[in-house]
Amino acid sequence: MRYVSDIAGKNQNRKILLGITGGVAAYKAAELVRRLGDRGIEVHVVMTEAACGFITPATLQALSGHPVYTSMWDGRIDNGMPHIELSRDKAAIVVAPATADFIAKCVHGLADDLLSTLCLARECPLIVAPAMNRQMWEHPATQRNIAQIRRDGITLLGPGSGDQACGETGMGRMLEPGELAEAIAAFLEPKILKGRRVLITAGPTFEPIDAVRGITNRSSGKMGYAIARAAIAAGADVALVSGPVSLAAPVGAAMVRVQSAAEMFAAVQKHVAKADIFIAVAAVADYRSAAPRKHKIKKTEEERLHIDLLPNPDILGWVASRPKPPFSVGFAAESRNLDRYADEKRRRKKVKLMIANLAQDAIGADDNEVSLLDDHGTHRLPRAPKDAVAGEIVRHIAALCDGSRRKPR
Ligand code: CTP
Repeated sequence: MRYVSDIAGKNQNRKILLGITGGVAAYKAAELVRRLGDRGIEVHVVMTEAACGFITPATLQALSGHPVYTSMWDGRIDNGMPHIELSRDKAAIVVAPATADFIAKCVHGLADDLLSTLCLARECPLIVAPAMNRQMWEHPATQRNIAQIRRDGITLLGPGSGDQACGETGMGRMLEPGELAEAIAAFLEPKILKGRRVLITAGPTFEPIDAVRGITNRSSGKMGYAIARAAIAAGADVALVSGPVSLAAPVGAAMVRVQSAAEMFAAVQKHVAKADIFIAVAAVADYRSAAPRKHKIKKTEEERLHIDLLPNPDILGWVASRPKPPFSVGFAAESRNLDRYADEKRRRKKVKLMIANLAQDAIGADDNEVSLLDDHGTHRLPRAPKDAVAGEIVRHIAALCDGSRRKPR
């Protein structure tokens, strides 16, 4: 699925040079090119001679849509200096997989082929994703080299641990292409929320009725988690208060896992004083059982079951009406009269920004189509994957926080 180019970070350099070195994980580089493309990142590939033993340049050329370079003596670069030219307009060089040998070369400044020379002659940041057998990773020489490349300011992604091609299990596995693409996209994002502390609620709440049953809703948490990832990518310090969802925690978020609205409220009360920005994405249940039963209710006990419900506290309303509230953002899921209801909710809850979406479209889906309502009016975003929408919401929040009015769309 392509990100909508209109909202995938305008005026931002999203071109990278992907270096592939000779490890068996080279086959995953093909998938990485696809995943980066999904995120609107243009990929130009350079391969070492050994990498060509694992995967062909033709495959990478077809997937990236650009010529693949493997030699310092390639005549296709006009000035005859591919080792300098190929990285000049790039936001970063990413080497994935990076073998133990390649990392050792980086440490010592060796430059005996196109990729190592490009890395030495670069002006842009270098990111490496190590991939090697467990013993190679644990070897003191590799560990010394890893410590040194960190000191040299090179960004390390992974490795992870798990099953290895050699049949062993342990550290040294290259991160999966999806994980790498997410981390690379985050690296490329401008750090527009640097130094800001962002508190986010996400997912549904679960209000117990008895030992096994409860009231909940179909919120998947995907939008809240996407906003947490986008805020982290923008350099924010993120605390994520999450109801019960089956999603992986965003890398770098301080997670607070809760079940009920009361627990969510308590967590927000605990963390809100430190927050500069509060984004309420959670679908908080409006009511809870007044007296949840300790044991499972048996159907033979009562012919008709009456559950007495009490309203839950309005977490967003409480935060926004504090004496010195953080910049507060709410979500309004409506099934009709979207803009009118959402704007009424924005005024009633006294929030700076209300994000409106159609409940029937948004819940559980991977895409979303939202309107942003603030003091300046209504800004509509085109339908796009939730990660792209989240990036745009974060850019809008950063602009509003900086007091700079965005140009109407
Ligand atoms: N919210 C909250 N605490 C609640 C209820 C909602 O923080 N107890 C937040 C949600 O996270 C969301 C916004 O408030 O940001 C939604 O507002 P709300 O008035 O609860 O929306 P609805 O439940 O859709 O309201 P209504 O049923 O009146 O449409």
